[in-house]
Amino acid sequence: MSHDSRSKDSELPPGEGLRRGLTSYGDTDFSLFLRTAFIKGAGYTGDALSRPVIGIAATGSGFNPCHGNMPQLLEAVRRGVMLSGGLPVEFPTISIHESFAHPTSMFLRNLMSMDTEEMIRAQPMDAVVLVGGCDKTVPAQLMGAASAGVPAIQLVTGSMLTGSHDGTRVGACTDCRRYWARYRAGEIDEAEIGRVNDQLVASVGTCSVMGTASTMACVAEALGMALPGSASPPAVTADRMRVAERSGATAVALARSRLAPAGIVTAKSVENALRVLLAIGGSTNGIVHLTAIAGRLGIPVDLARLDELGRETPVLVDLKPSGQGYMEDFHHAGGVPALLRELKPLLHLDAMTVTGRTLGEEIEASGPGFPQQAIRPLANPVFAQGGIAVLRGNLAPGGAIIKQSAADAKLMRHEGRAVVFENAADLAARIDRDDLDVAADDILVLKNIGPKGAPGMPEAGYLPIPKKLARAGVKDMVRISDGRMSGTAAGTIVLHATPEAALGGPLAWVRTGDRIRLDVPARALVLMVGEDELARRRAEHPVTPPTAERGYLKLFLDTVTQADQGVDFDFLRAAGR
Ligand code: FES
Repeated sequence: MSHDSRSKDSELPPGEGLRRGLTSYGDTDFSLFLRTAFIKGAGYTGDALSRPVIGIAATGSGFNPCHGNMPQLLEAVRRGVMLSGGLPVEFPTISIHESFAHPTSMFLRNLMSMDTEEMIRAQPMDAVVLVGGCDKTVPAQLMGAASAGVPAIQLVTGSMLTGSHDGTRVGACTDCRRYWARYRAGEIDEAEIGRVNDQLVASVGTCSVMGTASTMACVAEALGMALPGSASPPAVTADRMRVAERSGATAVALARSRLAPAGIVTAKSVENALRVLLAIGGSTNGIVHLTAIAGRLGIPVDLARLDELGRETPVLVDLKPSGQGYMEDFHHAGGVPALLRELKPLLHLDAMTVTGRTLGEEIEASGPGFPQQAIRPLANPVFAQGGIAVLRGNLAPGGAIIKQSAADAKLMRHEGRAVVFENAADLAARIDRDDLDVAADDILVLKNIGPKGAPGMPEAGYLPIPKKLARAGVKDMVRISDGRMSGTAAGTIVLHATPEAALGGPLAWVRTGDRIRLDVPARALVLMVGEDELARRRAEHPVTPPTAERGYLKLFLDTVTQADQGVDFDFLRAAGR
C-alpha cells in the first residue's frame, strides 16, 4: 500500500482545487494537511485529490417529487466529471417544492440562494454543477452562484410526463386548475376529480407545461448558464441523463477556463433571456426571478424595456397555458435551440455561454431544424406580441404585469366596479358566499399578498371565480393584486402591483364600488378616484408595514425588495456594473 499523501501534479494553478478557501487555523500548510487527512478518510487517493474539484449542489428531498430523479442525475454528472478528469464532490443545499413550502415557496427562495452562495464559497470547488428544477430552486441556485463568483453550470431535473384522463391528455398544472374550476362549478363530481388527481402528475419531474419551472429552464439556457438543448428533455428520459453527463464534463472545462457567471450573465444575455421568456409565453414569475439573478451582478431589468421587447417579440411556442402542448412536445420539436433559430434576428449573438462558445455559434451548431408543430416561425406566431405586458397608472406607479397571451381577449379593454378583498383570509372567507355582491363584469381586487404583505408574495393572484358566478358559467374576470400567480395559470390577471398594499401602495386605498379601468393595448391600469379622495383615505387609515421580532421572518420583512427589484433582499443585490 503506498503512502499517498503527496498530490500528483495538479492540473490547476497552485492555490486551487482542495487548496481553495482553506479553513483558518493560523497555519495554511497545516490547514491543507488536515483537510487532506480528513477527506482521505473517505478513501480518496492523492491522484483523485489532485484533480479539479467539481462541486455538485444536490437538492434531492423526500418532500420534492420534482427532483425525484436526483440520484440518477447525480450519477450521470459524476460520470461526466470523472470522464473529463475532474473529481466530483456532492453537497446538499435546501430543496424547495411548490406544494410543500409554507407559507409559500417564494418566502424561502432567498434563503436557498444564501445557502447555495455560502456553501459554494465555503467549500473548495473549482466549478459547480447546480442541480435543481422546481420553480424556486433554479432561480435560487443561479442567484447564489452569481454572487459566489465560482464557475457554474445549471442542470435542471426536467419535466414530468403527461398523463391521461378518460382519453384526454393532462399534465400539471394548467389542467389541475382547469379540472378544479370545473369541479367548483359543479360540472364534474367527487369521483371524477379523484381520478383526475391520479393522472395529473404522471412521473417525477417538474410541471409539464410552460410554468415557472419550464420557463426558468429555458431562461437558464438562453442566459448561457445551461447547455444548449438542456432545458427540454423530460426527467425520466435518456436525453436528460446525457445532458447531466455533459454538464459534468462542461463543469471541468469551466474549472480550467475559469469562466465564471459574471462572464456569461451580462446585459446582453439577460435581454436574450427576456426575449426567450416572452417567446415561450413564459411565466410572469420568470420576470421576478431573472430580475433577481441579474441584480446579483448589478444588471438592472427595466420594466419599460421589458414592455418594448414584449411589443416586438411574438409568442412562438405553442404550450399551455398560452397554447396547447406540453414540454415533451417542445422537446420533440427541438427545444430551445430550435426556438433560438427562429428568434435569431432579435438576439445578441455574441453573448457567451457555459460551453465557451457564443450563443450565435451554438445556434449555428444546432443545425437547420425540421418540420414540427410546437415552435412556430416568426411569420406565424401563436400570439403576435410577447406574452407579458407591463401596465402603469395610479394603481401601480411602480408597474404591474399581465400575461396577455393567457388572458381573455375580450377583457383586454375593460372598465368595472371593484370588489375588494383586504387579504388572503378575507378572500377565503367570502369568495364563495352566496350573498357576495359580485357580477361577472366586476373587477376582483386582492390586497396584501405582496412581498411583505403575505409575506413572501404567494401565488394567490389567481383569484378563483366566485362560486356563484362559476356555476353560472363565468370562466374569466379581471383580477388585480400585488401578488404573483403560478406560471401554469391562465386568465385576465394583473399581478405584481407595485408598490404593494402592505407598504401603503395605491392598492391599499381601493374600496368596493370604486371604478377601475384596464386597458392593455394602452398599458394602463387606472383607479378612477380623485387624488383628494385618495389623500383623505390615506389620512384616515394609515398603513403600518409588517414587522417581526426574530429569525428569518425578521430578516425577510426588514430587507425584501419589491417585485420590480426581484423580491431579493436589498443587501444581496450588487452595486451596478
Ligand atoms: Fe415543482 Fe411545478 S411543482 S415544478
